[in-house]
Amino acid sequence: MLNESALTFMLSIGHRSGLFDTLRRLNRPLTSLEIADESGLDERYVREWLGAMVTGRVMDYDSTSRSYYLPPEHAEWLTREATPNNLAGIMQFMSIFGKVEDDVLECFKNGGGVPYEKFDRFHEVMAEESFQTVVAALDAHILPLADRLVEDLERGVEAADIGCGRGLALMHMAQRFPDSRFTGYDFSKEAIAWADSEVVKRDLQNIHFEVCDAAQLKDKHRFDVIFVFDAIHDQIDPHAMLVGIHDSLTENGLLLAQDIRTSSDVENNLDHQVAPFLYTISTMHCMTVSLAHGGCGLGTCWGEELALRMFEEAGFTNVAVHALDHDFMNNYYICRRK
Ligand SMILES: C[S@@+](CC[C@H](N)C(=O)[O-])C[C@H]1O[C@@H](n2cnc3c(N)ncnc32)[C@H](O)[C@@H]1O
Repeated sequence: MLNESALTFMLSIGHRSGLFDTLRRLNRPLTSLEIADESGLDERYVREWLGAMVTGRVMDYDSTSRSYYLPPEHAEWLTREATPNNLAGIMQFMSIFGKVEDDVLECFKNGGGVPYEKFDRFHEVMAEESFQTVVAALDAHILPLADRLVEDLERGVEAADIGCGRGLALMHMAQRFPDSRFTGYDFSKEAIAWADSEVVKRDLQNIHFEVCDAAQLKDKHRFDVIFVFDAIHDQIDPHAMLVGIHDSLTENGLLLAQDIRTSSDVENNLDHQVAPFLYTISTMHCMTVSLAHGGCGLGTCWGEELALRMFEEAGFTNVAVHALDHDFMNNYYICRRK
C-alpha cells in the first residue's frame, strides 16, 4: 500500500512536469541528464523520480549505460497523447486531497465540512479527467444511449448541463449541434469564469454559462434535455436539485445523468475494483463539500439503489440504467419525464 500510494504522487509529477510526454516523444533509452535536459528540469530531481519509476516497474533501467526507458505499452496509459486512456492525470487528485487533510481531520472531531474553495486546482483537474470519460465519449457512446437524442439535438432543442464545471462537455455539444441552445449552470464562479473565456476563444454563439445553485433552478418546463455529469452525489440538497430538474424539463424532456456506479451498501462493494479509492475521495472531497454547507453529504458511494429511489421521489418514474465499457466507474441514467 505504501509503495503504490507513494507512486501516485510520482505519476502525478510525471504528468504535470511533462516528463512522460517527453519520454514518449524521444522513445529511446536515455540517461537522467539527457532526460532532464530534454525536459528543461533539474537533473537531481529527475534522477530521484526515475528511481521511483524504475523500482515501481513503470520504467526499465540498464545499469551498464545508466539509461532509462519508458516502454511504449506503458506510455499508452501515461501520456497526453494517450488521451482518453491517460491514467496519470487522475493521480493528481491524490495530492489535491492530501492538501486538505488537516481540515478534514478537524471535521472528524467537530463535524461540518471543507468547502469547494479550499481545493486548489480542483476544476482544472476535474475538467481534464472528465474530458476523458465524458467529452471524448459523448459522440460514440453517451449520446446514443437515449433514443432520438442525437436527432433532437441536430433538429434544435434547449439543453442544459447542471454542475457543468468548466463546461467542456457542453461546448463540445454546442459546436456539434449549432441549431440547439445550451446553458451551463455551476455554483463555482471560478469554473464559470473559465468557461466564459473559453466560449469567447471558440467563438460559440449558441451557449451561455451562469453561476447558479443547482437547488434553485427556476426555469419551469424550459429544457428538452438536461445533462448532469458526476454532479449529484456532492450536492448540498440533491433532492431539491432533482425536483428542480424534473420541473425544468418539457413534457417529453429527459435527464441524462452520469454518476458513480456502486451499491448503496458497503457489504456489496467488497469486490468493486476501486471502492477504497471512492470512499477515500468521498471523505476527502465529495461528502465533505456537501457537509460544509449543512448539506446531506450523500457521498461518492451513494449507490445505484439510492439513486433510483431519489429519481423516483423527484418524479422520474421511467428510468433506465446503463453501463459503458470505457467508464467502469459510472452508471448512466436515462430519466424520462414521462
Ligand atoms: C465532480 S464536479 C463535476 C463537474 C463537471 N460536470 C464535469 O464532469 O467535469 C461537480 C460539479 O458540481 C458543482 N456543484 C456542486 N454543488 C453545486 C450546487 N449546489 N450548485 C451548482 N453546482 C454545484 C461543482 O462546482 C462542480 O463543478
